[in-house]
Amino acid sequence: MSTLAGKHIVLGLSGGIAAYKSAELCRALVKAGVTVQVVMTEAAEQFMTAVTLQALSGRPVYTSQWDPREANNMAHINLSREADAIVVAPASADFMAKLLHGGADELLSLMCLARPIDKVPLIVAPAMNRQMWSNPATRRNVAQLQADGIHVLDVGQGDQACGETGDGRMLEADDILEELEAFFTPKVLAGRAVLVTAGPTYEAIDPVRGITNLSSGKMGFAIARAARLAGAEVTLIAGPVSLATPRGVKRVNVRSARDMLLAVQAHLPAQGVFVATAAVADWRPDHSAEQKIKKDGSGQTPELAFVENPDILATVAQSAAAQKGALFCVGFAAESHDLLAHTTAKRLRKLVPLLVGNIGPATFGQDDNALLLVDEAGARELPHASKQVLATQLIEDIGQRLK
Ligand code: CTP
Repeated sequence: MSTLAGKHIVLGLSGGIAAYKSAELCRALVKAGVTVQVVMTEAAEQFMTAVTLQALSGRPVYTSQWDPREANNMAHINLSREADAIVVAPASADFMAKLLHGGADELLSLMCLARPIDKVPLIVAPAMNRQMWSNPATRRNVAQLQADGIHVLDVGQGDQACGETGDGRMLEADDILEELEAFFTPKVLAGRAVLVTAGPTYEAIDPVRGITNLSSGKMGFAIARAARLAGAEVTLIAGPVSLATPRGVKRVNVRSARDMLLAVQAHLPAQGVFVATAAVADWRPDHSAEQKIKKDGSGQTPELAFVENPDILATVAQSAAAQKGALFCVGFAAESHDLLAHTTAKRLRKLVPLLVGNIGPATFGQDDNALLLVDEAGARELPHASKQVLATQLIEDIGQRLK
């Protein structure tokens, strides 16, 4: 469930070709459970029609400060008082300059100026040509808008409608939605650095074969996302999975358990929390053939011998214990039965303050799960829910412990 559900957002469109993305944004907001009131400038109407946005938001669009539908004829007051936030997307260079100076010659800027500054946050998604974006005037304006408490989103990079390539594209609708989600998420991990391992590892037998497991990485990716939404700086060490990297998360791809350990150790300094969700292969072939192992026609199978992989969590937890609490370690236990007993025993064996038990075969590859949080004091169940909901609950729990 989105933190945006139940919110009321005024979506303002100023004039820019990126306005076509605002239709998608409006739709995505409505889908997330937001009520959306669209306000458009005259310039925005050159790019999108109010009809489109009325149909997508399910509410008549406001385009004029003189709109007679408001009994008091004060749309700028009424609309801004109802909102949980005003989101201007696209915010053109001209509109941002106008905001900066407190201009108020049409409804959208008038409403932004009239909003109760301490109650109704203003979030803008800039959209313009790369030269306009890098112009010293725009740089100054962005800095001043931020200093005035206006939340200025990043811009995207790439091909622009004008044919040039560079910074200044408006973020995609999904990215703006994610930024709004982050904006409204309580910052229980603000200022913390969080390192997460996720997915399976792959242990090569030869250049074309290997052993791996059914972990999809979904739980670890959901935790990385939840931690970032909660204000953490997140590094995700991912085994071979094809999941999209959560926005704002730094991802490092690895293959084998030993690669994962090296990547974890390289990123460990300066971390405050380590969450090991990866289903690390316990064993690897004792050597990996340089060339493909061929059948020789005799029907004889190759002899495989295994050696144990390093235990990444135990290694990290041990050094964390030696450093007396600078790093908070959270492990997972993938079990097939006797969840409480195995998770409790594993927690003591791995020396971690919090171990999260789950039934591996029931959850691998699925979008939902149920978790058992085991610590020194006992066990607490997080009942069946989507992995994203559970990830949010787990991050809230970790945030409480670090208070
Ligand atoms: N883990 C790890 N490195 C390993 C094995 C496991 O970091 N080589 C971590 C996992 O990421 C998880 C926790 O240890 O956080 C427990 O993993 P799990 O597979 O449940 O347990 P194992 O240690 O492999 O023990 P067993 O196979 O006996 O259940």
